[in-house]
Amino acid sequence: MSSNPGNRSTVSRRQVFSAVWGISLFALVGQFGGALFQFFKPRVVEGGFGSKVIAGRAKEFKNGSVSYVQEGRFYVSRLDDGGFLAIWQRCTHLGCTVPYSKDSKQFMCPCHSSVFNTKGEVIGGPAPRPMDIFPITIVDGQLVVDTSNPIAREKFDPSQLTRA
Ligand code: FES
Repeated sequence: MSSNPGNRSTVSRRQVFSAVWGISLFALVGQFGGALFQFFKPRVVEGGFGSKVIAGRAKEFKNGSVSYVQEGRFYVSRLDDGGFLAIWQRCTHLGCTVPYSKDSKQFMCPCHSSVFNTKGEVIGGPAPRPMDIFPITIVDGQLVVDTSNPIAREKFDPSQLTRA
């Protein structure tokens, strides 16, 4: 005699336990994956690196000057002819942060001694190409630099300059 009157299907306790266990495991893995994604996701702060950064009023940068903009991790290099470049601080060799030397008027990488001029061109060391730049727009007299969009260059070209 069948223990299943009326031919109804039954679900054993073991099957219920397995299903609950599977759902719990799935939820746990999902939560862990979400937390891991949040941890590794690059943080973009509005007005900081990874977004559009206001570097300052164009007229405040003197011709032939280099100014560091910490929030955007770039230098504003205003060449002698008045053109602007926003040069990313990152070395094109292995990615070290490159400080600017006011004395020598050069960017000098502390890691393997690459040297770049104020246009970001390589003048010494192992760096394979000029320092990357960011696009600049001038809005109401202010330099707005889009740090979400670095531009790799093979060489300097005057068309890379932004003019006020
Ligand atoms: S990382 Fe700059 S020279 Fe190597």
